[in-house]
Amino acid sequence: MANYEEKIASCVDEFEKLLREQLARAQAMREGAQPSAHEGKTVIGIIGGDGIGPIIVGSARAVLEELLSEKIANGTVELRAIEGLTIENRERQGKAVPDDVLAAIKECDVLLKGPTATPKGGSMESANVTLRRELDLYANVRPVSIPEEGVDWTFFRENTEGEYVLGSKGVEIPGELAFDFKVTTDAGTRRIARAAFEFARKNGKKSVAIVTKANIMKKTDGNFSRIAGEIAREYPEIGVEDWYIDIMTANLVNPDIRSKFEVFLLPNLYGDIITDEAAQLQGGVGTAGSANTGDRYAMFEAIHGTAPRMLEQGLGDYANPASILRATQMMLAHIGCTAEAKRLGDAMDTVKLTVTGDKDGASCAAYTEELLRILR
Ligand code: IPM
Ligand code: MG
Repeated sequence: MANYEEKIASCVDEFEKLLREQLARAQAMREGAQPSAHEGKTVIGIIGGDGIGPIIVGSARAVLEELLSEKIANGTVELRAIEGLTIENRERQGKAVPDDVLAAIKECDVLLKGPTATPKGGSMESANVTLRRELDLYANVRPVSIPEEGVDWTFFRENTEGEYVLGSKGVEIPGELAFDFKVTTDAGTRRIARAAFEFARKNGKKSVAIVTKANIMKKTDGNFSRIAGEIAREYPEIGVEDWYIDIMTANLVNPDIRSKFEVFLLPNLYGDIITDEAAQLQGGVGTAGSANTGDRYAMFEAIHGTAPRMLEQGLGDYANPASILRATQMMLAHIGCTAEAKRLGDAMDTVKLTVTGDKDGASCAAYTEELLRILR
């Protein structure tokens, strides 16, 4: 049998380092947010991303220029293009988010971001995950609605820890075994739970479903479920239910009960998976927006990825901008432009053109033109 003593020792060292880093992160979380950088002005950073990203973000930018024209003219809003968050530049610099790009991003208040490519395997972390962590965007909020069925869901996915925080820092003994780590902090769970319950309270929702796999992941999900339950007691008017993720994925496709759910509160990976399922039920991942919010910054994006297959097949121009436009609507509401957010949502509901992602549907440009015509 091979002698792995040295390798075991180095894995243990590695684990100790991670444990100390994560403990420091948990403790720092209690220190709170920094104040906003810009008095009386909102800087919206616009990031094209990869694949179909620049195409759909171009649509969103044109819509913002139209809706916010006055605010842009009087200097209360700035649209600022952020360059360099492309897979080519990231690979060249060997960084998920190059330092100069991150610095430029931190000069903004909110971000509208196209999808960014994530290399499979290797050690490069996803740009999304890096940005969510660097900007401390702990709440991933994803609304999904199917009005004709009375479905109106809002998912609160923990966005900075769980399976993601050390996803690129696992340890392995090649040829034998591999370990990844899942980390749940008490402070991190409390803040996402509070975000979900506050949302429920402010929006007159009657119940929150806490969704975990606490029967199996006893420490991390066990704590998540317990702490979320403690926070729930501060909101006695809101019903709380504890569910396991497997049956919840079934519930979402069960027409008899799915409309009774309102707000979902989940750890990171389950939230990632179930929100794609939910978006598909609404009409496809091309239709759902996503907000990543923290106490200082917020980033709004499409729920889907870069769609490399569409580009390979020459279908980039047919990409559906609906998802990034729904994200734009959420961003407008977030920065206090509620009237503009409503105008955009209403206009999207009015457009007759259908974008299918293929040549049988409208192109992104044609859809955008039609939307702008309605908005003008
Ligand atoms: C999402 C995406 C990301 C995630 C990827 C691109 C890293 O799937 O926003 O849901 O896994 O969170
Ligand atoms: Mg996802």
